[in-house]
Amino acid sequence: MERGQFPKGFLWGASTSAHQVEGGLRNDWTEWEKQNAEQLAQEAERRFGHLPIWSDIKTQAQNPQNYISGRACDHYNRYEEDFDIAQSLGHTAHRFSIEWSRIEPREGEFDEKEIEHYRNVVRALRARGMEPFVTLWHWTQPTWIADIGGWENKKTVEYFLRFVEKIADAYKNDVTHFIVLNEPNIYTAFGFITGSHPPGIKNIFKAKNVYLNLRAVQKGSYKVIHNGNPRAQVGIANSFMYFEEKNGLFFNTWIKNVVEYFWNFWFLNKIKNDLDFIGCNYYSRYLIGLGNKMVKTGDTSDLGWEIFPKGIYCILKHLGKYKKPLYVTENGIADAQDKQRRNFIEEHLFWTHKAIREGVDVRGYFHWSLLDNFEFPEVRGFWPRFGLVEVDYETMKRNIRPSAHTYAKICKTNTIDLTF
Ligand code: BGC
Repeated sequence: MERGQFPKGFLWGASTSAHQVEGGLRNDWTEWEKQNAEQLAQEAERRFGHLPIWSDIKTQAQNPQNYISGRACDHYNRYEEDFDIAQSLGHTAHRFSIEWSRIEPREGEFDEKEIEHYRNVVRALRARGMEPFVTLWHWTQPTWIADIGGWENKKTVEYFLRFVEKIADAYKNDVTHFIVLNEPNIYTAFGFITGSHPPGIKNIFKAKNVYLNLRAVQKGSYKVIHNGNPRAQVGIANSFMYFEEKNGLFFNTWIKNVVEYFWNFWFLNKIKNDLDFIGCNYYSRYLIGLGNKMVKTGDTSDLGWEIFPKGIYCILKHLGKYKKPLYVTENGIADAQDKQRRNFIEEHLFWTHKAIREGVDVRGYFHWSLLDNFEFPEVRGFWPRFGLVEVDYETMKRNIRPSAHTYAKICKTNTIDLTF
C-alpha cells in the first residue's frame, strides 16, 4: 500500500460556526427564525420531499422547532469536552467563529465577560495543541445592526471595523490566524437575491451594495488587524463551487465561465492584495447551462449534493495561481448514517494531496464539521448531519462516528492511502 505524505506541519482539524453550535444566542438570525419557523415547517415537503431520505426526516422537517437554533449543541458550555474529543482524534487546529452579538450586544457596549469567554476558548485549544483559526463573521449580526439596515448601511462597515479592532487588540497575544468573512457570496445571494436567508430581500441592487460593503470590511479588517498585531495572518473563507457545463453547447460554456467568474473569483480578485491566505470552502459540483445534461453525475449526500472529489483539486490548482498559502477551511458531507463520509474524506484528501504534489501551497484541512449542528444555510435545521461527532439533541451526548476515526488516522500519521 502506497501512502502519500503531507507537508511537515500541515494542520488538521475541523470547523464550526457560533450560530450553528453555541446555543443561547440573540441575533438577527434568531429573530428571523422565530418569525419564519411555522412557514418553513409548512414548506418542508416542497423543499425536501424529493430527497431519498424524506421518509426519515419528514417528522423533524415538518416540526417548526427544527427551524429554531435554540440550544444548538450547547457548545458554548461544552467546548472543553468537544475539544477533548478533537484532540483525541489527532486534530492540530480548529476553526470557530466569534459571535459579534455576544461581544457587542448593544451599540458601543462591549461585554468583557464574553471577550474573556472566547479567550478561554482559544486557550483551551492551545492547551490541547490545536491552532485556533478565528472567523470574525459567519453571517450573523447583533439585532441593533439589523435595525439600522444591516450590511445595506455603510455605517455597518464602520461598526464592524470597530468590533474587529476590539477583537484584534483583545487577542493580540492569543490568536495568529483570523478569517474575516465567511462566504460573502452565499450570504449575499441568499439574503438579498433569492431572499431565503435573513433579511429575506430580493433585490439585485441592494445585493450589490451589500457585496461592496462586505468587500470594504474584508479589506479594512486586514489593516486593522495588522495594526494591532503585526504577526497576524488574515484571510477569508470563500465558497468555491466547481462548475461544469451540462453539455458542450457553446452557450453553456460561455454562461458557465461567467457564473464561475462571478461566484468564485470576483470578490477574491478585489481583495487579493489584502490577504495573507485564502480559505477554500468546497462541497460539490454544479452543472450549468441549457439542455439535458450529458455529464455523468455521481453519488449524492443526504442533501442531494453530488459528491465530486476531483473538484477540490481543480479549485486548489486554480487558487494556486494567487501565490498565497491556502487552507481548505470547509469540506464535508451531510450523511446521517455515516455511510459515505469515510470515502468522502479519503477521496477529497487524495485530490488535495495531488494538488500539493503538483506544487500548490495547501497548509491545512478543516473538515466541516466537528459536530452535527444547526444547518442554517437555506434554513434546513437540525436534520442534516455534517458531524464527525454525532450529537443527540435530547441529551447533548456526543458520539464519535466511525469516519472520524478514519480521519484521525490521517491526522495522526500526516499521510493518506494513495491506492484505495
Ligand atoms: C457554511 C456552513 C454550512 C455548510 C454546509 C457553508 O456554506 O459556511 O455554515 O453549514 O456550508 O451547508
